[in-house]
Amino acid sequence: MSDIAAHAAELRAQIHDHNYRYHVLNLPIITDGEYDRLLRELLDLEAAHPELITPDSPTQRVGSDTSEDLPKVQHAAPILSLGNALNIEEVFAWRERVSKLLTADTQLDYVVEPKFDGLTIVLTYEDGVLVRAATRGNGDMGDDVTTNVRTIRTIPLRLQGEGYPTRLVVRGEVLFLKADFQLVNQRQVEMGLPTYVNARNTASGTLKQKDSRVTASRPLTAFVYAIIDAEGGLPPSQWETLQRLKAWGFLVGDHARHFTDFEAMVEYLKGFNRDSMPYEIDGLVVKVNSTAIQSELGVVGKDPRGAIAYKFPSQEAITTLLGVEANVGRTGVLTPTALLEPVFLGGVTVKQASLHNYDLITEKDIRIGDRVIVKRSGDVIPYVVGPVLGSRTGDEEMITPPATCPVCQSEVRQDEGEVAYYCTNSACPERVARNIEFFVSRGALDIVGLGERGVRQLLGEGLIQDEADLFSLKLDDLLNLEGFAEKKAENLLASIETAKQRPLARLIGALGIRGVGWTTAELLVNHYHHLDVLAQTSLEELTQIDGIGPIMAQAIVDWFAVPRNRHLLDKLRAVGVNMQGEKVEPMGDSLAGLTFVLTGTLPTLSRDDASALIVQHGGKVTGSVSKKTHYVVAGEAAGSKLTKAQSLNIPILDEAGLLHLIESGQETV
Ligand code: IVH
Repeated sequence: MSDIAAHAAELRAQIHDHNYRYHVLNLPIITDGEYDRLLRELLDLEAAHPELITPDSPTQRVGSDTSEDLPKVQHAAPILSLGNALNIEEVFAWRERVSKLLTADTQLDYVVEPKFDGLTIVLTYEDGVLVRAATRGNGDMGDDVTTNVRTIRTIPLRLQGEGYPTRLVVRGEVLFLKADFQLVNQRQVEMGLPTYVNARNTASGTLKQKDSRVTASRPLTAFVYAIIDAEGGLPPSQWETLQRLKAWGFLVGDHARHFTDFEAMVEYLKGFNRDSMPYEIDGLVVKVNSTAIQSELGVVGKDPRGAIAYKFPSQEAITTLLGVEANVGRTGVLTPTALLEPVFLGGVTVKQASLHNYDLITEKDIRIGDRVIVKRSGDVIPYVVGPVLGSRTGDEEMITPPATCPVCQSEVRQDEGEVAYYCTNSACPERVARNIEFFVSRGALDIVGLGERGVRQLLGEGLIQDEADLFSLKLDDLLNLEGFAEKKAENLLASIETAKQRPLARLIGALGIRGVGWTTAELLVNHYHHLDVLAQTSLEELTQIDGIGPIMAQAIVDWFAVPRNRHLLDKLRAVGVNMQGEKVEPMGDSLAGLTFVLTGTLPTLSRDDASALIVQHGGKVTGSVSKKTHYVVAGEAAGSKLTKAQSLNIPILDEAGLLHLIESGQETV
């Protein structure tokens, strides 16, 4: 065997092994990027020496994502893939290859589009009506996901405008916007379920759901970018295709650009900021604009020659986990942070990464000394995906949650049914500092001119011990601090003075009671109207309030029972901080005795406005659907609450229905 043949055989064996580890064992030992490089090397080798291609070569595998449970659909034309350029030089090389195939005087222009990191979807319209939706499958045959796709609001069920072909087959990509994915996870947390890690896999699972109500409850988005087939032929160019798709009512995305100049196009590729995108992309796609030239260039394997994917550098890396540090948050929660052997990742050197929580460490069996896969996705901080189990030596150390607080050595506890471990000492110096930082922050009492550094300076100099001490600061105190000139100090004092008069809900939220966010703070103000009254309340009384569960009620009672916190209230009162809440003035009683649950986004009312309206008309708003719920008010992207209401036969209102009920006391028919 020649050296080259031996090398090809070696690559094939390696890739087979990695495929098996990834797909069957679910224990990869290399990153996706490294896998791509191996596959790429083999592809290049086989392209140069076609006689080396064997039928069992991993390059001959036609990818398929079909699922056995779904009916199959034959595609109108093969659903092609794309060749990759892993750097700018390879984009230049692509242009060279393309130019050589065309006559010397051919002028090329280009369209650049985001490479959406989602799932391909193929949509068929007849007479402007969506009749079928299918996944890519093996490129010839895909899964029929029509029912589920009909729930995606960015996909038109009927085309807009005039002039669409009687038969139209469109290709696009289904994904979660970053913000929507966070929402999905937030809901998982609310329901006490595990969160999803990978947006693309979650989108895939959502699209292939058997119960389309589940799909409907999750906010998927679809972008389209190609016409596969059309009665009367394809538009003359890719740019024109995008314009027409937009005019027919599809979501096309704002980042496509048309270039007549190749160099300008390359500058766009180089300067593109993937982190600024509202959805995940794994590269940019460069397409020859002219449809005629595209078809003249043809296809090699399953990749059209007239387009190339410029892939961003991999955002994954493997490095060694050197240790784990527990960071103390303001509520005392200990968050494990990975200390890593520095590694270059997506343009920056990464030394630390999130480990989320201790339960996840156990679940993933991450140990100190492990080689770990670290990932940076979008704008989030890097996180540890998991250990490379194949690299274990046996010398790795198990990670256990600390038994005492790393800052104050107090006892650490985990409450039943909760994931978090926390420091039990409310006077823990780190907790105190973080609480004061939170107290002055923008969403809380909004003391302008005081940030993390300032708070640490004041604490360090002994000028404050708690939040209330801020209100007794004098000009001279501040002038002695490094970086505080007269003007700055005066502004800060003025800002502290203003903060005394913030609404009560802001003050309650700013106290940093575990689980008490702004919505709960409002609820508490509506019920108690004064901080002193709230401070006296009992567990029984708190649990009677709709929207306050037993865990939160306990946290509230516990907070007010701590002598340090009682002392803080006394001090806040003494310095003249507002503790009085405004009563909600009733506007009518058309909703008296009725309990509502809100879900999804309403067209004009914010969630708080809708709640306030209901309360002002004598109704109650609660957080979860039960047999006692009278109405569910559902908006765009309504979630599991809607599904639950449907299963309990609870009437569902939209915004107009709610307003009508308020006005007339009757449901619309
Ligand atoms: S064009 C001939 N454009 O990337 C048409 N594909 O790695 C070939 N993708 O399977 C595809 N965004 O699912 C094209 N703007 C875009 C894309 C895009 C994402 C996906 C597509 C394809 C994969 C290839």
